[in-house]
Amino acid sequence: IIVKESCFLGSHRQQYVATLLLLSALVYMASSVTHYSIQEEMEVGSVVANLAADLGIDVQTLGRRKIRLDILANKKYLDVNKDSGDLFILERIDREYLCISKTVCYLKMEVILENPVRIFNIELEIMDINDNAPYFRRDTINLDVSESTAVGERFSLSNAVDPDIGSNSIKSYHLSESANFDIEIQTGRDGSKFADLILKKALDREEQAIHNLILTAVDGGVPARSGTASIIVRVLDTNDNAPQFDKDSYTINLTENSPIGSLVVKLNATDRDEGSNSDITYSFSLYTSEKTQTTFELKPDSGEIRVKEMINYEDFRIYDMEIIATDKGANSLSGKCKVKILITDMNDNHPEISIKSFSSPVKEDIAVNTVIAVVSVSDKDSGENGQVDIHISEDLPFALKESSDNYYELLVSEPLDREKVPEYDITITVTDRDLGTPSLTSTRSIHVDVTDVNDNSPTFAQNPYTFYVVENNKPGIAVFSLNASDIDEGENARVSYSIDRINSDQTMTSFLSINEANGTVYSLKSFDFESLKTFKFFVVAKDSGTPSLSSNVTVNVFILDQNDNVPVILYPVSANGSAEGVEEIPRNVNAGHLVTKVRAYDADIGYNGWLLFSLQEVSDHSLFGLDRYTGQIRTLRSFTETDEALHKLIILVKDNGNVSLSATATVIVKVVEPKEAFAASDVKNAVKDEDENNVTFYLIITLGSVAVLFVISIIVLIVMQCSKSTDSKYLQDTNYDGTLCHSIQYRSGDKRYMLVGPRMSIGSTIVPGSNGNTLVIPDRRRRDSGEVR
Ligand SMILES: *[C@@H]1O[C@H](CO)[C@@H](O)[C@H](O)[C@H]1NC(C)=O
Ligand SMILES: *[C@@H]1O[C@H](CO)[C@@H](O)[C@H](O)[C@H]1NC(C)=O
Ligand SMILES: *[C@@H]1O[C@H](CO)[C@@H](O)[C@H](O)[C@H]1NC(C)=O
Ligand SMILES: *[C@@H]1O[C@H](CO)[C@@H](O)[C@H](O)[C@H]1NC(C)=O
Ligand SMILES: *[C@@H]1O[C@H](CO)[C@@H](O)[C@H](O)[C@H]1NC(C)=O
Repeated sequence: IIVKESCFLGSHRQQYVATLLLLSALVYMASSVTHYSIQEEMEVGSVVANLAADLGIDVQTLGRRKIRLDILANKKYLDVNKDSGDLFILERIDREYLCISKTVCYLKMEVILENPVRIFNIELEIMDINDNAPYFRRDTINLDVSESTAVGERFSLSNAVDPDIGSNSIKSYHLSESANFDIEIQTGRDGSKFADLILKKALDREEQAIHNLILTAVDGGVPARSGTASIIVRVLDTNDNAPQFDKDSYTINLTENSPIGSLVVKLNATDRDEGSNSDITYSFSLYTSEKTQTTFELKPDSGEIRVKEMINYEDFRIYDMEIIATDKGANSLSGKCKVKILITDMNDNHPEISIKSFSSPVKEDIAVNTVIAVVSVSDKDSGENGQVDIHISEDLPFALKESSDNYYELLVSEPLDREKVPEYDITITVTDRDLGTPSLTSTRSIHVDVTDVNDNSPTFAQNPYTFYVVENNKPGIAVFSLNASDIDEGENARVSYSIDRINSDQTMTSFLSINEANGTVYSLKSFDFESLKTFKFFVVAKDSGTPSLSSNVTVNVFILDQNDNVPVILYPVSANGSAEGVEEIPRNVNAGHLVTKVRAYDADIGYNGWLLFSLQEVSDHSLFGLDRYTGQIRTLRSFTETDEALHKLIILVKDNGNVSLSATATVIVKVVEPKEAFAASDVKNAVKDEDENNVTFYLIITLGSVAVLFVISIIVLIVMQCSKSTDSKYLQDTNYDGTLCHSIQYRSGDKRYMLVGPRMSIGSTIVPGSNGNTLVIPDRRRRDSGEVR
């Protein structure tokens, strides 16, 4: 028996061959089986053995005997060379394929010869070589390990496999470097090797949440082969960390009046755990007062502290709270912190003013420095915000004076006058002092009424009053009216009028009365210009206050003439009183001879007393002429023989009044023969001269006085014009004599006016005379006709 050795090496070789030989001999003896042994994976064509030699067959005969090889129940891995008898590899043999899990692997064959037929059994043992590396069925092993797992805990890992057998199979495992893990290699009952993962140091997820390990399996072949798998150990969290705040205590400044809902602080507690173990809820601890909890809101999830109620510094200045953060782990853990909220003052309180005492109304004669009100001020703010300034408007006659801390007195600082300002609205303004934010102001108004004191006397509308009253007024009717006013109030202003009979001329005032209530003056008597031209009296106006005040006014009354007097014929007057007379003239008189002079007198003045003469009736117009003005009757021509001896002349004497009055005188002219006429004329003339002398005397006196008055008037006018008086003023009655045309001159500023005309009225209702033409001569320019009427 030849055992073909091919690739055995090393020191075991001799021993191994001997064993095979012995074994082959035994098999051959028993069943005549030829036994070969080869390694798997031999090259195709490699010769395993020479069958001819081994089976004792002549090589020469092989072709004839038709040698062939039959592999039992398997693929034709091998064949036999028909010429040389060599058994060679036809196809690569993989032991792991051929006999998958068997430790010993045989390939059975028969060698068949013919002529004669012979069959040889051959057994080919396929031996293992280390051609497979170990591998893990899953190359990633995921392990979830709780961080609370005790040290020493084992975790089985899936083992690696190696199709090779024997020493070529897995021999050992190795684990990559790890502080926490180790492996322990176990051998199964079938000799397979597997590894357990052992926790050698406690895990901390917070330190390392994932451990990546590499497990290597190594077989025993030479050279050894290996395979790896990665082990991913995920550390499962346990609630082993308590929530922790950034700081143990927080101090926060918060201004008062922060809007509701505004964020005060966001607390941030952290928990190193994960998941629900690190989910934190915030809550107030029992240590936190109710008041604090109603004022502030703590959001359980976010840790935000927000304002829940209006915060008023004036109520509370510090809020202390303790906040607990709790995680949501199974055995929840918690942490605490303290929060102190300091409220800072805002200038949010308006200063307050309160009127402690106040007296209104006040009398206008109240003494200066009298206190009329007491005011107190306050401000709830603190510090600068609570300091206040108080003032009232400057232009009032009142002042504020600090009496004690935050109390002020409102005093009268200047004399009051109800007639100027009857009431005051005093606005008291209080402003607090504030740095930065705008200061706040409060105002309070008080109304002060000033009551009247009788401190003003009545004043007349004019002083003096000048009235012009036309004579012949009806007795008992109102002639004029005075008016006085009093700027006081109520009774103090109620004026009553009276005539001052003591200082006035009794004879005048006796027939005057005044309406006590409205100052209308009545005359009980009719005025007669001819007997009274002017008078004055005093009127007192008295108010009804206590004590009452009064004032007086001079009233000048000028009576205006009316044409109420009929001209009176002074000459000729007959014995029975009628205005008749007989004039005798000699027949031989020439033209222009004065026959007589009609004399008349009128008590009225001015036009009313200006007499004009006219011939009303005359027998022969060509004979006599009458001078309109003098009343002289003269002959117009010489008498002739045919002229009658008796002539009747009716002379009309007419005054120049508006409605003129007249009288007539009758003059009979007797023409006598010269001789007797002369004598008669002489006698008559002597008588007449006496009469005429009397009349002439009166006339001289009258004319002289008129002339003197006229001259005085002119002088006065000149003086008035020259004198510089400032204001507009009536300068009248200086020349009032009732005979001259009345002239009024007045002055307004530097303009002068002179008014010339017949008597007329100022302040009275009657303008006399149709020929009362008014001649106004302005010195410069008449400005307003209303100034003079
Ligand atoms: C809070 O206010 C106080 C004074 O009231 C001040 O000293 C402190 O600095 C403030 N703190 C903060 C955080 O503004
Ligand atoms: C809380 O604090 C942690 C760490 O201190 C930080 O990472 C996180 O952003 C903070 N959260 C908030 C809301 O401030
Ligand atoms: C008096 O004068 C006042 C104004 O000064 C006036 O109101 C009043 O009506 C006058 N009275 C009369 C009676 O004229
Ligand atoms: C004054 O009072 C009297 C009587 O009441 C009246 O007739 C007269 O018109 C009044 N005068 C004035 C100016 O009011
Ligand atoms: C009138 O008033 C004057 C002052 O204006 C005064 O001197 C005089 O005494 C008064 N007369 C009367 C009667 O009241």
